[in-house]
Amino acid sequence: MTTYKIVMLPGDGIGPEVMDQAKRVLITISELHNLDLELIERPCGFEYLHETGEPWPEGTFELCRDVADAVLLGAIGRADNAKTLAVGEHSPGRIIVLGLRSGLGLYANVRPVMLFPNIMHNISGEFRPLWPVENVDMVIVRENTEGFYAIQKNEDSALSGVSDEVTDKRIITKKGSELITRFAFELARGRSGAPVDGKRRVTCVDKSNVLNGCRLFRETYNSVAWDYPEIGRDHKFVDAFTLALLQNPENFDVVVTTNLFGDILTDLAAVLQGGLGMAPSANIGVDSGMFEPVHGSAPDIAGKNIANPIGMILSMQMMLKWLGERKDDDILQQSAGDLSRAVENYFKNGRSLPIEVGGDADPSAVTNKIIEQLKKINVN
Ligand code: IPM
Ligand code: MG
Repeated sequence: MTTYKIVMLPGDGIGPEVMDQAKRVLITISELHNLDLELIERPCGFEYLHETGEPWPEGTFELCRDVADAVLLGAIGRADNAKTLAVGEHSPGRIIVLGLRSGLGLYANVRPVMLFPNIMHNISGEFRPLWPVENVDMVIVRENTEGFYAIQKNEDSALSGVSDEVTDKRIITKKGSELITRFAFELARGRSGAPVDGKRRVTCVDKSNVLNGCRLFRETYNSVAWDYPEIGRDHKFVDAFTLALLQNPENFDVVVTTNLFGDILTDLAAVLQGGLGMAPSANIGVDSGMFEPVHGSAPDIAGKNIANPIGMILSMQMMLKWLGERKDDDILQQSAGDLSRAVENYFKNGRSLPIEVGGDADPSAVTNKIIEQLKKINVN
């Protein structure tokens, strides 16, 4: 039996709280399916930096690169983030999150946007249903190693904020744009299209009416699209897309965009999912995968035992699926399938929902319900 090594980086704030829950689910799955997992946990983040002067223990990047079959990340950040960012090259967010993305070549940030049954939206402090569940089922594919977030040389003056005038450079390459748009089209191939008409399409979101980098991105998208005649082409400028995303989410199947736009749009898209705590993500490269919820460390709710562990648990589900496909391991793929059914059944059942979406279940109560569903699936 193959042993899979999973490196877990809980990080700051609610990161460790949600990681604990994902770990409980992962252990249950490994028992139910007889998986051989080695879970390797490392502390990291702002708290760790505060205590030790380093963002993570020496060798952790190499552990993720050379030893891990997959990496699970909780969240990095703290309340006075802006001040700490001045630390520049020592910023844990930069070193850990962006460092892993660029250092492991995780060029695709895959962020599924789907709404589960019985989920309420908290808009204007009121929990109420908004969209029919079936209208929200898209994946936003965010370019993950270029754009404004590319780790560049000579950018420390910008981070330390000493100058009165700074320039943020954005790098968009043809190669990077081709990789990510091709990834998006391949993903669309395996899906069943947009909710509105069941047609497969990839929407390219950019600002090519103003920005040269976006022109290159769109041109590259257009040339890649020729290889996928069965998949619909669709273009939106990013400003117009924000409106369309909320007004007509049913029109979208796969959306591909540049790094910064993807960062912003996926927080906005979390509104369609019931909240940021519901949103999972996968950072995918040629040789590595790192899986993390879209939310951050949420210092305002950390320590209150009210965090929503769903984004983290679903990110772990994405890890099982990716690893299963990559290693051609049927049992891992089946585990991923079971977990996604268990989460679906839990929401259908509608009891003990996360506090974030108007329910009364603390993180471990949410996990208990999911574990209950997992066990049911495996008895039948
Ligand atoms: C995200 C986060 C990160 C990003 C931060 C922590 C660097 O906001 O994953 O969306 O901006 O990519
Ligand atoms: Mg973000």
